[in-house]
Amino acid sequence: MERASGQILTIFGASGDLTKRKLLPAIYELFNQMALPENFAILGIGRTELTDKEFRDQMENGILEYSENKLERVDKYFLDKLFYLSINTSDHNDYEKIKVRLASLDDKFNASGNFIYYLATPPSLYGLIPEYLGAVGLNKNENRGGFQPRLIIEKPFGYDYESAIELNERLLRYFKEDQIYRIDHYLGKETVQNVLVTRFANGIYEPLWNRNYIHHVEITSAESIGVESRGGYYDSSGALRDMIQNHLMQLVGLVAMEPPSTFDSNSIRNEVVKVFLALRQHKPEEISKFTIRGQYLSSKIKGRIVPGYREEKGVHPESKTETYAAMKFFIDNWRWGGVPFYIRSGKRLPTRVTEIVIHFKRTPHYLFKGRTVSESSNQLIIRIQPDEGILMKLGMKVPGAGFNVQNVNMSFRYADLSNVYLPTAYQRLLNDAMLGDSTLYARGDAVLAAWTFVKPIQDAWANDPSVKVYGYPAGTWGPETADELFNRRGITWRYPCKNLTDDGIFCEL
Ligand code: BG6
Repeated sequence: MERASGQILTIFGASGDLTKRKLLPAIYELFNQMALPENFAILGIGRTELTDKEFRDQMENGILEYSENKLERVDKYFLDKLFYLSINTSDHNDYEKIKVRLASLDDKFNASGNFIYYLATPPSLYGLIPEYLGAVGLNKNENRGGFQPRLIIEKPFGYDYESAIELNERLLRYFKEDQIYRIDHYLGKETVQNVLVTRFANGIYEPLWNRNYIHHVEITSAESIGVESRGGYYDSSGALRDMIQNHLMQLVGLVAMEPPSTFDSNSIRNEVVKVFLALRQHKPEEISKFTIRGQYLSSKIKGRIVPGYREEKGVHPESKTETYAAMKFFIDNWRWGGVPFYIRSGKRLPTRVTEIVIHFKRTPHYLFKGRTVSESSNQLIIRIQPDEGILMKLGMKVPGAGFNVQNVNMSFRYADLSNVYLPTAYQRLLNDAMLGDSTLYARGDAVLAAWTFVKPIQDAWANDPSVKVYGYPAGTWGPETADELFNRRGITWRYPCKNLTDDGIFCEL
């Protein structure tokens, strides 16, 4: 991996879960790959009182427990780069302490004032921390040759369109847009980036990638887990805010964008924004027809009773928050005019799978009616996770007499590549932020455009009692009503995974 010059990464919320589960294991992997700057240190900031030694011990345990690779030990040279400062993050007086500590680390590590701030805190602090950093001048770097401080924040970027605008305005008061890195961890996934390569490195797709040849596009992100220990957070969020507005919209952006003229952050993100701006908003009276929401109910999975959503800890017993969301929509531009997009995401579905399916139109006049063993339209399936890969479904002649046709799979699996190493999303994204590459980060205008699209859905789901919340038994593919979104005989969602045995699920790529 490419290496950045010297820098100090300050993590706010350093004593929290995200830091030890995701951030430190990813940074340590970058260290092992020699991808961290030579002059690098981490300053953890949190409310909990910890010494540097205690912080190092906690991070060491986190790395050992949560790293993808099984590790025996963590290099002491790395741990010696970790420091900790306890402050009250909501008190602006404490920010002078950060300034003093960063200045001394800057001297010690010769980092040229190159600071990155990562907000691994509750979202309520997203407006405050940048303001207080700005008040003590930590939003600027006066060193010649250094870069302007970068601010990395995690979703949620607002709760709805209005709060997203407010957050953006607050951030932009102290940091410029090109200093702000908004993480959407889906963009850090190798297979999501491969959507760009599949589309733009292969000449064969572009002529077909439009309304003339594509019948519809389907995107699924399913999870088998429930809300686990996050009931409190999830109940004020729901699938629309938690998955659709961000992760699934980013996938839509990459599938639907025009080829950028150059492969740089702004050109790529400009094209994604254009897609979001072309999304046709649903009218209030269309919401029941074009969107479906559901909530998982208690059920028996593999012999074990799992609780329904409303019985989960932290969830209101009469909650209407959706754990499943599906919708149909259109993109009003020349490439996609009239092509329906179907997207869905849910918890407590039969398995964890994320995939994009491009359904091509059938031949204009089908010669093999009555001789086709399985469905006859071509599909390109891009499997984001697990079992990452790409599959093309093609009709082929069944060997032997006559002209019987069967759909066969031409597939590529990442796992078949020897020496394949898929970096985690956090590794990729942190490394990019250190290098100053924001291509795989969500830009403010795109976030707002995605909120604009979901606003009528949010409004109707919140205020229109005629829009139902369908129950679905945990472990199933969500409300059956979601099939009606297709409104065409013989066309429905792709159900990639089938139960083979009581304890095994087989997912065909
Ligand atoms: C997060 C959501 O952004 O994405 C979670 O808050 C969800 O609710 C997770 O479980 C899914 O991510 P992945 O990478 O497991 O598909």
